[in-house]
Amino acid sequence: MNEKAGITMERKKLNYENKLILAPMVRIGTLPMRLLALDYGADIVYTEELIDWKLLRSFRRENGKKMLVLLRTTFIEVYLFWKIKQAVSIDFSLDVLGTVDYIDKTDGTVTFRTCLRERDKVVLQIGTCDATRALKVAKMVEQDVAGIDLNMGCPKLFSLVGKMGAALLKEPEIAVNILKTLVDNLNIPVTCKIRVLPDLDETLELCELLQSTGISAIAVHGRTVNERPQHMNRNEVLRKISEQLSIPVIANGGSKEIQKYSDISKFKEITGCNSVMLARAAEWNCSIFSKKGLLPMEDVIKSYLKYAVDCDNPPSNTKYCIQNILREQQESILGRKFLNSQTLEQICDLWALSDYCQLKKKEFEEKGLLGRSQVSP
Ligand code: FNR
Repeated sequence: MNEKAGITMERKKLNYENKLILAPMVRIGTLPMRLLALDYGADIVYTEELIDWKLLRSFRRENGKKMLVLLRTTFIEVYLFWKIKQAVSIDFSLDVLGTVDYIDKTDGTVTFRTCLRERDKVVLQIGTCDATRALKVAKMVEQDVAGIDLNMGCPKLFSLVGKMGAALLKEPEIAVNILKTLVDNLNIPVTCKIRVLPDLDETLELCELLQSTGISAIAVHGRTVNERPQHMNRNEVLRKISEQLSIPVIANGGSKEIQKYSDISKFKEITGCNSVMLARAAEWNCSIFSKKGLLPMEDVIKSYLKYAVDCDNPPSNTKYCIQNILREQQESILGRKFLNSQTLEQICDLWALSDYCQLKKKEFEEKGLLGRSQVSP
């Protein structure tokens, strides 16, 4: 985590061909899980869905940024400084966490936390129904993320009432307007994530329409809005879409069929898509992205916890993610102790990471991190 932010070369445009992707997942896809997914082998990581108005009432802060004071500068030094800065865009922030935070002005919670390590691989997913708001959000975060995604698949009442998520499947002209506005005004790629419609021809028509906006790729969850995870993923529909479109189609919805790394290739073959996006399989064991095979749950929890400590992740969010790794193991003796824990220190203690947690805490205090940050639930 404590990368010395700093030197960043010319940014490479994200490419969605032949990629393994961490899917957007509310509460799961926060910074520690995204970093872990990258460690294990994910090529691209999506944020959880972030609602436009929540981001719009947030301000950007480099965690611990200090002003650069140029002392004793001669004309030549100023000239050299300007030349170097032109060549390699230097960020002189002195960091505490080494993160970039978007903080909600109304309650001080962190709406979105990211860092340089993931900048060229992280895609921010927006929940929106309005092109103007979507563009404002995208412009605000453009320098910190590699791509913007529009959520067109969320079936939750909250989204539908707000005309966001899956509501956009019924009003494609609104989605087209949002996507075109983003594509025309951003320097980073734009994508959308949809669910299939009950009718194949209508699904293909919708995909063609969305492709015509100039988006760089489309992620497709092979279930309809009314279908639940226990329903079969419509892999044959994903195949038809990938045959029809010229942009990369990212296959999603296969977690039930994907228990080990080699299952990912099978899913690619069946769907005809060369990029795959995983949600639940990664939520349960993020090492699903590793070519070396699945790691034991305990190893994954320990690595996740280290990132949670490094990122000063709120205990509530950390606990939620570990609960979803433990699943039925929550009934074990360790699991019960875990459920009673409340602080990061207490959680770390259960996995023999007390020393690590103490050390980091001291480091943060010395660097001047005051209080614990909070990520909204
Ligand atoms: C999701 N999903 C989801 N989708 C999305 O577009 N934005 C989001 O924020 C979320 N949040 C979310 C949270 C959790 C806990 C789960 C399990 C799922 C849906 C997800 O990205 C994916 O489309 C489905 O889970 C199907 O893929 P898998 O699980 O079969 O790989």
